[in-house]
Amino acid sequence: MNADHSEFVEGPDGWIPVALSVDLPEAGVMRAVIAGAQPLDLVVWRSRSGQVSAFDNRCPHRGMRLSFGFVRGERLSCIYHGWQYGEDGGCRHIPAHPDMTPPTSICANTYACQDHDGVVWVSKGADNSDDLPNFGGQGLRSLSVERGETVLRKLLAETHLPVSLTSDMQMAEAAIATQTRTSLVLEARSDAKNLRLMVHFQKITPDRTMLHVQTSPELPAELRISLSRWAERFRWSAENLGTMINSWDATSQETHP
Ligand code: FES
Repeated sequence: MNADHSEFVEGPDGWIPVALSVDLPEAGVMRAVIAGAQPLDLVVWRSRSGQVSAFDNRCPHRGMRLSFGFVRGERLSCIYHGWQYGEDGGCRHIPAHPDMTPPTSICANTYACQDHDGVVWVSKGADNSDDLPNFGGQGLRSLSVERGETVLRKLLAETHLPVSLTSDMQMAEAAIATQTRTSLVLEARSDAKNLRLMVHFQKITPDRTMLHVQTSPELPAELRISLSRWAERFRWSAENLGTMINSWDATSQETHP
């Protein structure tokens, strides 16, 4: 027995996790891809004041990827000719015509975007964010895995997690406490309390998934390092074996068997 699938909570409908909040700092710009019948290529950016926004990754002027651009205050500037866009996608400034007010018809295609509970979310449809999860996690790392989401959920149900800081690293069987359409929570019991790991799934293609991983808050730094190494090991096992190896040699610096 490895996992308890007792609770499966639907939702959040339409929302996709695209980054850990800590990986998109003020004035940060990143590309995000969302799988689907028509995959989305997005630019996700955070203004100087902290507002997050998501646009199609295509400048309305000549089609340059906006993810190559940069943030100026509350605007995203295209790297090519410097056209600047506000959070609503509207063009605010054209450097070649500095005295002109850009027409409202010049507008990037926008998507609902929320920074919620340590994760940046984008919605392809509804912008009602009421059912986004509140797990209270602290960002650990994001990693790309060459495996589909269904396989990864199955492997996570079989995994063990490092729970102890003793020199003899202890691994504990993990159980799935909660699953939603986009995320799951793993729990493993240590001597004193439960360690929780939140994994958010961003499907890139049917065979490639971004995992955005959070931990219980305020874990000791050494344990967070161990969990980061576990994440590397999990990726290696998923991509190369398709099964989990749950023993752990604490003296080894290798990230995979
Ligand atoms: S292509 Fe973006 S400003 Fe010209």
